[in-house]
Amino acid sequence: MQNIATDLFSKWADNGKDRGMAKSHSPAVNQILDKTLSETKSNFNFVDAGCGNGWVVRKVRQMPYCKSSFGVDGAKSMIQNAKEIDPDGEYYLEDLLLWSPKNKIDFVFSMEVFYYFKSPKTLTKHIVDKWLAPGGMLVIGLDHYIGNPDSYSWSEDLNVHMTLKDEKEWVQIFKSAGLTSCYSFKVNALNEFPGTLCVVGQLKN
Ligand SMILES: C[S@@+](CC[C@H](N)C(=O)[O-])C[C@H]1O[C@@H](n2cnc3c(N)ncnc32)[C@H](O)[C@@H]1O
Repeated sequence: MQNIATDLFSKWADNGKDRGMAKSHSPAVNQILDKTLSETKSNFNFVDAGCGNGWVVRKVRQMPYCKSSFGVDGAKSMIQNAKEIDPDGEYYLEDLLLWSPKNKIDFVFSMEVFYYFKSPKTLTKHIVDKWLAPGGMLVIGLDHYIGNPDSYSWSEDLNVHMTLKDEKEWVQIFKSAGLTSCYSFKVNALNEFPGTLCVVGQLKN
């Protein structure tokens, strides 16, 4: 099994599939941001962990209280595409587990990324310890989870590691990494699709 998701996604970016992914993820992401960030009435900085071509970074940058918005991704061609679209934007080619920001972040977002890690708990703990500012929020979206049967074969189909967990287990990962006020909800449910699972947690002030 190919273990490195970033190799797979770099190839996707070479073939322009980053744009298709942005399009297909955007209804869920819009709803998640509406529920978690859009009402914010104080200045915040934002990072998209596993930002792909950076489309969410650019979207959030337009929000009135956003002081800064940047993206991190481990796929070379994703970051190249992001910089081509937005030469003045901040995009870092880094492994999420090895990187940490210079200044702590108020809002860490991640769409369709955490399950590529063998230990999502280790990634969550790293973000809690090294990325989040006091009072900061971690918000993730997932389509591969127990409860969405169509996603169960994805790891085999794409030949890449994916960690399959249910909603309660994801919330428990957030709690055990030290986050409080943890909760989950689903967005964008359609016909047979049970929706994108969103998990939210906050670091104490
Ligand atoms: C399914 S894509 C989602 C991209 C973007 N969030 C979006 O919605 O368009 C998963 C992304 O996670 C990135 N990724 C996976 N493992 C990573 C790691 N260890 N470090 C950094 N990025 C990683 C991949 O390179 C890829 O761009």
